[in-house]
Amino acid sequence: MSTTNWGDTREVTAPADFHVHLRDGALSRLVTPHVHKGGFYLAYVMPNLVPPITTTRMAMEYQKKLRENSGSTKVEFLMTLYLSDDLYPSDVKNWKAAGIIGVKSYPRGVTTNSDQGIESYDKYDELFKEMEAHSIVLNLHGEIPSDHSKNTCVLNAEERFLPVLADLAEKYPKLRIVLEHATTEAAVKAVMACGDNVACTITAHHLTLTVDDWAGQSFHFCKPVAKFPSDRLALQEAIKSGNKKFFLGSDSAPHPSLSKSTATPTSGCAAGVYTSPILLPLVAHLLDSFGAIDRLADFTSNFGRAFYQIPLASHAPKVVVQKVQGVTVQAEYSSEEKAVVPFWASRSIDWQIVNVEE
Ligand code: DOR
Ligand code: ZN
Repeated sequence: MSTTNWGDTREVTAPADFHVHLRDGALSRLVTPHVHKGGFYLAYVMPNLVPPITTTRMAMEYQKKLRENSGSTKVEFLMTLYLSDDLYPSDVKNWKAAGIIGVKSYPRGVTTNSDQGIESYDKYDELFKEMEAHSIVLNLHGEIPSDHSKNTCVLNAEERFLPVLADLAEKYPKLRIVLEHATTEAAVKAVMACGDNVACTITAHHLTLTVDDWAGQSFHFCKPVAKFPSDRLALQEAIKSGNKKFFLGSDSAPHPSLSKSTATPTSGCAAGVYTSPILLPLVAHLLDSFGAIDRLADFTSNFGRAFYQIPLASHAPKVVVQKVQGVTVQAEYSSEEKAVVPFWASRSIDWQIVNVEE
């Protein structure tokens, strides 16, 4: 249901990705430049390294490395801490000055590097109150761990998390909370039912994948898994409606090709879909496919910035994308040390970046 013609253009001022994994070491050196390559000027960086980022010092050192790796001085890296017992309420007041914008919570065991994740939110009451007072955002990986005695598995793990979101939003009405990478109609409804302190990121890949795409295709396997066609439609409709609570967080999560493709009987494949290098054209293509191309700038910059209170600078760069007849996505990105396969490898995207104002 495209609403555009070949040659049509759209402009976005300083596109912002409010959820991205930039890794460390050789993989980070390979993938960090792809933020800018994909058309983005702001990266909200996830802290699930090994060991996780739990101190301002670690975050600042990590930010410095990312700037060095970036290849562009224009990309802003916003840092987060990993929710754990290593975070102290008395420190929160110093976080803003150290560039910390948010705290990411991973329920234990639900995804990549979540072994040190949390088991209860109650014990963080004091921390959340301080975060509320000092305007630090809480980012939620919204799944509960699988528990077969309760019939919980990857297909209902997000929906069963939603009461936690509602409780937190009510208990801390001034704490800004983001439900990350929503995948279900239930999540969209739950976010809409919460107050203005709650927003929600949506990835590019969840706008197109369903269960059928990852069952048997490891490069489409990510957490939370893509759900039903009706869920995908709800995500698309949330964007199309222009509701400012919903904005882009790519959850671009690179893993070396081998960890994606070599599952054995005792070890599965790594969870994560890699979209950074193609992100803005991909999002334009997808929004166009369901009649929402006119929401491109709101979804990829304005709404996220408004929620995070990160206004555009007066000289902020503009990126123009144009509808073209098919650009083939590279099969792999590699350095001497690492190789990663992007989402939609060898497939074709109908939008491309034609002009970047530095
Ligand atoms: O698919 C995912 N990959 N989901 C996450 O929550 C984490 C991420 C990763 O770090 O690889
Ligand atoms: Zn993530």
